[in-house]
Amino acid sequence: KDTVRVALLGCGTVGGEVARLLTEQAGELAARAGARLEIAGIAVRRPDKHPELPQELLTADVTGLVTRDDVDVVVELVGGIEPVRGWLLDALKAGKSVVTANKALLADHSAELFEAADASGVDLYFEAAVAGAIPLLRPLRESLAGDRITRVMGIVNGTTNFILSAMDATGAGYAETLDEASRLGYAEADPTADVDGYDAASKAAILASLAFHTRVTAADVHREGIADVTASDIAAARSLGRTVKLLCICERVTDEDGVESVAVRVHPVMIPLSHQLSGVNGAFNAVYVEADAAGELMFYGQGAGGAPTASAVLGDLVAVARNLVLGGRGPRESAHAALPVRPMGQT
Ligand code: NDP
Ligand code: HSE
Repeated sequence: KDTVRVALLGCGTVGGEVARLLTEQAGELAARAGARLEIAGIAVRRPDKHPELPQELLTADVTGLVTRDDVDVVVELVGGIEPVRGWLLDALKAGKSVVTANKALLADHSAELFEAADASGVDLYFEAAVAGAIPLLRPLRESLAGDRITRVMGIVNGTTNFILSAMDATGAGYAETLDEASRLGYAEADPTADVDGYDAASKAAILASLAFHTRVTAADVHREGIADVTASDIAAARSLGRTVKLLCICERVTDEDGVESVAVRVHPVMIPLSHQLSGVNGAFNAVYVEADAAGELMFYGQGAGGAPTASAVLGDLVAVARNLVLGGRGPRESAHAALPVRPMGQT
């Protein structure tokens, strides 16, 4: 196979950067992937609003595009659960590999997506769904597969970290900083997903599922956002030598009877200024992973934005292309341990 044909769903903040890099770095990507990565079509909601894109590639007919015979891989950068879930199931059933950054969908529907991928023998990759550019899911699924992870903890939402950092550093207002995060392409289409903690809860569910080899959905995650964090809360934290961060905490816990379970929560935390996470500012993310043999690991980098997220998407796309060229498949869903998820409120 010398050409891998890509259907790009969505050409906004992230999809636009993926299209740009696919074009500008075509030669280098082909050398790394072992095949040319060619855009077969681009689905957007309003093709007439995209004069900057090659008109012959544009369509609003997503179902038609994802099932087209000449498409090998579907890259989904639209977001949200429906109708995307149906499109990706159609694509997988039609034998197309899928790369997606859609944490909301994966947090609740990864089981049926993996099932469809397995039935067709194709790939499902989603490194960009958690922590933007930071390679985090591959290390959890692959590099640490031989270790026993006990805790995953950190900052996984760029928008809320951008807001909290600005409120702390300059005393900027909540609303104006949220507008700025949207303008910079960090926030979700509906930014309440960020500020109310839903986005971080979806990411926490994905992290916990991979780290503990069990199924955790967003509904299993205890969730509090930052909408109620005020300038005076941040000033009070500062006077105590602390700052406020929205943390995601996924833990293996053992109760008094020795029964092990998984507890996952997202909420604002006052952390000491001496803690490394207090220095993670703007749209940057940082995640600690603790494992029995490895000890403590820290992952840090740009957690949101078009180009950083496109980096992770393209990494997945190159992996899919290599599998198509050389044979073989990427990682599947983990075998599941019978590890229960601790109900919310008991964290
Ligand atoms: P945008 O809102 O910028 O882009 C969404 C794109 O999807 C647009 O091109 C839009 O078309 C298209 N679209 C929306 N609805 C439809 C539809 N019904 N049919 C066809 N096309 C449609 O989103 P982002 O690029 O910011 O995010 C995309 C995905 O990546 C989401 O899942 C998000 O959670 C995830 N993500 C985003 C990150 C970020 O920093 N922005 C980081 C990590 C993940 P049109 O242009 O015509 O409106
Ligand atoms: N809205 C998300 C964030 C995008 O701010 O972290 C990256 O997943």
